[in-house]
Amino acid sequence: MSEIEKLKEEFKIKIDKAQNSKEVDIIRSKIFSKNGFINSEFKKLGTLSPDDRKKAASEINNAKEDLLKLFNDKAESLLEVEIDEQVKKEKDDVTLPEQEFKIGKIHPVSQVIDEISSIFSEIGFSVEEGPDVESEYYNFSALNTPENHPAKDMHDTFYIEENKKTLLRTHTSPVQIRTMLKGKPPFKIIAPGRTYRSDSDQTHTPMFHQLEGLHVDKNITMGHLKGCLNYFIKEFFELEKIKMRFRPSHFPFTEPSAEVDIGYRIEKNKIVIGEGDKWLEILGCGMVHPNVLKNSKINPSKFQGFAFGIGIDRLAMLKYGINDLRSFFECDYRWLNYYGFDPLDVPTNYRGLSK
Ligand code: DAH
Repeated sequence: MSEIEKLKEEFKIKIDKAQNSKEVDIIRSKIFSKNGFINSEFKKLGTLSPDDRKKAASEINNAKEDLLKLFNDKAESLLEVEIDEQVKKEKDDVTLPEQEFKIGKIHPVSQVIDEISSIFSEIGFSVEEGPDVESEYYNFSALNTPENHPAKDMHDTFYIEENKKTLLRTHTSPVQIRTMLKGKPPFKIIAPGRTYRSDSDQTHTPMFHQLEGLHVDKNITMGHLKGCLNYFIKEFFELEKIKMRFRPSHFPFTEPSAEVDIGYRIEKNKIVIGEGDKWLEILGCGMVHPNVLKNSKINPSKFQGFAFGIGIDRLAMLKYGINDLRSFFECDYRWLNYYGFDPLDVPTNYRGLSK
């Protein structure tokens, strides 16, 4: 075997063993570059006798052709393997569950609304909604609020028109009237939503959230109200026992009216809910005033009801240890990442609300 053929055979083995296109390129340049195998062999031709030169030249040309063909075949088969590997790497099985779900968090206020809705739906309440821009009639008059009531003051209420006929609702209570006017008793609803008052400091923001509750039926008493709220508060704070008191109060739309306080104490600078000798007001409630029933086309001698109004933001702060109400509305992504909830973890009573 000539020297050229020997070298050719060696290169053939190397090409065959190459694992990827990078290795193939290295071998190719050793053969075909300016100072590679083929050119160096051609350069030697000048030193040979005419006969040897002819023979050697044809051997070099043969080697060149053989090796070129080998390279083409090798390149083709490597390309196939590489494409297969790439496809395997890039293939996503869209039916698999997400391993790491990092996009977006549920705001504590939304979480608390979901929790409260789940708690009340367990005992037969359905969810109603009303508009943020409300009429003076539904927000005040129909709720038995007298003309000179301090809540109607320009300093407290955002009026939309100068004639004071439309406003941003100051509470969710108008949803009581809207619900009763569009149906027939019994009613058993909650209505979460945004409410507005002209107020701003560490514990007040111009927009905040409330949740209204209304249960109207025959023979409804304060006892039902107490039982319902007791159940709600225990479920919400996820506690077996919770200290709670009804304190007499006044609202134009309920008679009698009460405010509910829960017991708490401070331990190592943290608030412990449910026990202790301090009291914290968390909601207003009472028996629906007969005038409110009349304004909603319901006969108060046949039907009675209880109602309550809860400050949602306040409850969220208490349950999740958030100190400044204003942080709720700052849209700070870092804050939301810390205090927010997993969007796939929907709160339900039986599966757990917050855990
Ligand atoms: N609407 C009252 C407020 O914003 C809260 C309230 C109190 C609602 C008593 C009620 C109720 O339904 O019965 O302060």
